Amino acid sequence: DPVNMKGLILVGGFGTRLRPLTLSVPKPLVELCNKAMLVHQLEALAGAGVTEVVLAVSYQPQMMSEFTKKYEEQFNIKITYSHETEPLGTAGPLALAKDLLAADGDPFFVLNSDVICEFPLADLLAFHKSHGKEGTILVTQVEEPSKYGVVVSREDGSIERFVEKPKTYVGNHINAGIYIFNPSILNRIQLRPTSIEKEIFPVMAQDNNLYAMLLPGFWMDCGQPRDFIEGSALYLDMLRRKNPAALASGEGIVGNVLVDPTATIGEGCVIGPDVVIGPGVHVMEGCRLNRTTLLRGSTAKAHCWIKDAIVGWSSTVGKWSRLEHVTVLGEDVTVQDEIYINGSKVLPHKSIGESILEPSVIM
Ligand code: GDD
Ligand code: MG
Repeated sequence: DPVNMKGLILVGGFGTRLRPLTLSVPKPLVELCNKAMLVHQLEALAGAGVTEVVLAVSYQPQMMSEFTKKYEEQFNIKITYSHETEPLGTAGPLALAKDLLAADGDPFFVLNSDVICEFPLADLLAFHKSHGKEGTILVTQVEEPSKYGVVVSREDGSIERFVEKPKTYVGNHINAGIYIFNPSILNRIQLRPTSIEKEIFPVMAQDNNLYAMLLPGFWMDCGQPRDFIEGSALYLDMLRRKNPAALASGEGIVGNVLVDPTATIGEGCVIGPDVVIGPGVHVMEGCRLNRTTLLRGSTAKAHCWIKDAIVGWSSTVGKWSRLEHVTVLGEDVTVQDEIYINGSKVLPHKSIGESILEPSVIM
């Protein structure tokens, strides 16, 4: 096996669909189940024997590099930044990092930064070598294929067609955003803004050089609030099967709940299923939490009721307040007492003193 395997993570893009969280941090740094999405991926790459990871960034590289320093040591990997002065899309960044990626002639991994799954990268490498063609992509089955890249493949895994965001039904197997390529793919990509899904994959499929491997287990693109909440639930379900000791148990805990050891929980709360409580969070007495993530340093005051929501870093939800239907509070938001918020996004640093009855964005 290759000894100096490399991986590239596409961490550019503005993460617009995950606002208001991405107004405070780049999308890959948002914590999913108490770990930045990027850290889930670095861990998976390191676990598959990758020794050097290229982070393809198009904005805020300083914030990202501050953050990743300690993981070089923790995972024993080298992290290199490849900074685009203009966003190069999903293929251009490979051309920009060409020298690094092609250095040893070994295949390399490429990941979209917002996908979560069990990352079977060793199996992906093995399958890729077995067919010997230029690229292999992981695919998964979904009910709503139109918001993804749809893959139609043959019995042996070879891809017949790749259609990004199809307007009419093509199939329900989609690109999971996790790839392995031989360096020869770099001959197909020019150094300009390019979409790998629209410009490169369809041609590779035509050349019979692109294969699909069905991803076992769960998968989610966590780049939108509703999917982030669902992705968290799926990840907790995986923890239940693989590492149940990591989950909370005891009175008032319902189903899968993850609680950081530095969080505090008051008397008489009912929490779960599918709740994530971050470091330094305070949940006061009598709260009811369901399918919700409370990010670092946030507070749920007494008797609040939160379902299908993400509470941003250092935000506070007032007493007897109620949040539901995919409500997302940005960083440092204050929701006053006895407020109802229905399916809304609240931008960072706002104070909410009146109920929001219809889904809206509070600037
Ligand atoms: N470096 C860099 N530069 N990265 C970028 C840029 C850019 O200009 N534009 C987007 N990215 C990164 C995003 O940060 C993300 O990690 C990845 O490329 C994919 O972009 P998304 O915006 O999340 O695309 P998508 O979710 O609509 O679709 C993609 O992912 C689906 C699976 O989640 C496609 O690959 C689909 O085919 C796929 O099914
Ligand atoms: Mg995405």
